[in-house]
Amino acid sequence: MTSLAEKIKILKKEKNAVILAHCYQNIEIDEVADFVGDSLYLSQKAKDTNADIIVFAGVSFMAETAKLLSPNKKVLLPRIESGCFMADMINPELLREFKSEHPNIPAVCYVNSTAAVKAECDVCCTSSNAVNVVKNLCRAENSLNEVLFLPDTYLGKWVEGQLGGEVKVTTFNGFCPTHLRLRAEDVEKSREEHPNSKILAHPECHQTVTALADFVGSTKDIMNYVKDTDFKEYTIATEKGVYDRLKRDYKDKTFYLLKDTLVCQNMKWNTLDDIYNSLLREEHEIILDKSTSQKAMACINKMFEITAVRV
Ligand code: 13P
Ligand code: SF4
Repeated sequence: MTSLAEKIKILKKEKNAVILAHCYQNIEIDEVADFVGDSLYLSQKAKDTNADIIVFAGVSFMAETAKLLSPNKKVLLPRIESGCFMADMINPELLREFKSEHPNIPAVCYVNSTAAVKAECDVCCTSSNAVNVVKNLCRAENSLNEVLFLPDTYLGKWVEGQLGGEVKVTTFNGFCPTHLRLRAEDVEKSREEHPNSKILAHPECHQTVTALADFVGSTKDIMNYVKDTDFKEYTIATEKGVYDRLKRDYKDKTFYLLKDTLVCQNMKWNTLDDIYNSLLREEHEIILDKSTSQKAMACINKMFEITAVRV
């Protein structure tokens, strides 16, 4: 009997589709995925393929970003419920209010935001390039030493710290409920249990957590850190999908998940069944209006321009 994964692979070929899976997804999805990685990497991959359809196994802001970068492709989100709690904490109205409280200061938005929010910001960033984006923006605009950062207050404040006080980062009060499950006590307890393990934390964590970590970096940076170092033990302080994949890919190393509850429920909606059904019926398509898309794309392009990354 043909397995569900096989059926998806056949359907993909028939429809000239690609499946992109974020590394926080349920790990069995990797079997049918053409690319697995962080949100920006996946969107870039989506743009480079000549597929007619992109199935984005991730959350809605990621599928929207893929649609912005590949406007002529049909982008499908297998489960329409897959939002991002952090991205949904701000909308254009709240953004305008935030901007009006701090007039004439450029707004930097984390890629974890809707297209409608990106459309009203000056430049986008990811957790991998946030420090560079803010630094280069200030250098490009002579004498700029303050930026607004949204929606994530913790990433914004981490960027401020990385820039050594050179730039004031005024943050919106959004946060990621998954990463905020971690507390300093969890890090201390883990340190006692595994004294030789390197603790790797995402900058969306609370500053009391990142302050105690051995390394702080984006999803991609954490994965690269494991690849590029030869320690025996690593403790992962980000979403469980990263831990699952590292454990699968580095059999000679030992991994611990800092806390069992480091699971983003929204990222776990998608199943192989959902992927099969959305591709079969071509349902849950991402549709963006033209004017929003143009403005949001300008915000994303500005990020590529000031970090000199080409898409
Ligand atoms: P990336 O941008 O690294 O894919 O991370 C997305 C995310 O949701 C982090 O919580
Ligand atoms: Fe959003 Fe947090 Fe889930 Fe990432 S982990 S998708 S920021 S809710």
